[in-house]
Amino acid sequence: MGSELFYRGHDDEDETQQQKSDVVYTPKPNKPLLLITRPIRYVLREQRLIFVFIGIAIATLIFALLPSSSSPSPYTKFENDNALIANTYFPSSESNRILSQKSNVYHENRGGMGLISAGGKIPLGLKRKGLRIVVTGGAGFVGSHLVDRLINRGDSVIVVDNFFTGRKENVMHHLGNPRFELIRHDVVEPLLLEVDQIYHLACPASPVHYKFNPVKTIKTNVVGTLNMLGLAKRIGARFLLTSTSEVYGDPLQHPQVETYWGNVNPIGVRSCYDEGKRTAETLTMDYHRGAGVEVRIARIFNTYGPRMGIDDGRVVSNFVAQALRKEPMTVYGDGKQTRSFQYVSDLVEGLMRLMEGEHVGPFNLGNPGEFTMMELAQVVQETIDPNAKIEYRPNTEDDPHKRKPDISKAKELLGWEPAVSLRKGLPLMVSDFRQRIFGDHKDSADLSMATTTS
Ligand SMILES: NC(=O)c1ccc[n+]([C@@H]2O[C@H](COP(=O)([O-])OP(=O)(O)OC[C@H]3O[C@@H](n4cnc5c(N)ncnc54)[C@H](O)[C@@H]3O)[C@@H](O)[C@H]2O)c1
Repeated sequence: MGSELFYRGHDDEDETQQQKSDVVYTPKPNKPLLLITRPIRYVLREQRLIFVFIGIAIATLIFALLPSSSSPSPYTKFENDNALIANTYFPSSESNRILSQKSNVYHENRGGMGLISAGGKIPLGLKRKGLRIVVTGGAGFVGSHLVDRLINRGDSVIVVDNFFTGRKENVMHHLGNPRFELIRHDVVEPLLLEVDQIYHLACPASPVHYKFNPVKTIKTNVVGTLNMLGLAKRIGARFLLTSTSEVYGDPLQHPQVETYWGNVNPIGVRSCYDEGKRTAETLTMDYHRGAGVEVRIARIFNTYGPRMGIDDGRVVSNFVAQALRKEPMTVYGDGKQTRSFQYVSDLVEGLMRLMEGEHVGPFNLGNPGEFTMMELAQVVQETIDPNAKIEYRPNTEDDPHKRKPDISKAKELLGWEPAVSLRKGLPLMVSDFRQRIFGDHKDSADLSMATTTS
């Protein structure tokens, strides 16, 4: 069968040859299909490189368009959750406004990461995707309480601290938690980290410490804040500055409203702190207006609570430590100067609401309850020792006569106001001080209660 086929084939060939020799050669007309395919075949064979380039161009185009198209990004779920929560908590027009504001930020700031960095309008206490947060000065008094709350909320926290006034003991209970990192670093040196939010607290807050090395204090306030703002700009993170009621100086307006510009001595012994913080506020606003960085400014009034430096020279810690050690409480001046005292958990709540909210500030965060130094001494006597003595000393330079926050703005725009009165908060701090001064462990349960009060 095979040979038969082979043979027939030869016949056909011979026959064709014969026919060819019989007929005069006339070139076949070009088939139209051939006309089209020939150049294509030529290009395919000879110009392959062009196709490689076209392929690269198409791929580049697709990848460039992909995030803004329908492709799911790791943040899409967060975005959807946000919309859901915004719709639940705000009437539709309000939620649309918030979300469109967010998407502006998203595009303005840094494409893919912007929505997370915006912090999200998620009410505190609701389950949400954890953020990556830097807390400078996180080993200090306020910073460590803030870190506790952020870690409890499910965020990943990096503490950056040079331990000038902060203590590792304040954050040691988080060591070993994979969502916690501690970096010894001075903020006057630049630092590169990838985070969504920056709480910038690093700065000695008590007069004893900031007067110890004023040049370093002003450098921390100016260069340190510049570095952190630069980082926020670079990575598109939201930045919160912890400023102070000291920006009002010795105020001529009482109580102090955020619109008050203050009465500050620019060349006094406290200037490294109060003028330093005023400069930090200026830098923060300039980075906001000039570089589009999302910023928040808190003006913190006197705050007290567990983990305060025992001998840091601040009036509440002074009185408590002195009364516990059976030493006379030192009152500077006539004791009629006033301060308002805020428990630390109230402050932390305010800072977090500010960071998560939509308003730049500045916001006064303080307890409007106003006490003279003599009244404070009495509360300490009631709490620790009714027989504790008072000793008068000459007043320190530039000590403000009055201080009381007007917190209407924070109440209205952040829905925040302090919840812990001095008489309720002071015993919690006394337990912690007693434990640290005398190594008394029986009150440790009180401390944990204090750190979670909010
Ligand atoms: N506690 C208050 O009553 C109060 C009032 C107004 C403003 N504030 C502000 O709140 C923030 C925290 O205050 P606090 O009471 O927790 O003070 P704190 O001294 O306990 O904490 C400050 C932290 O910053 C760290 N730090 C200082 N300089 C640094 C530097 N150059 N680099 C890195 N870390 C540095 C310290 O080691 C410390 O851990 C400060 O910015 C302070 O100005 C506090």
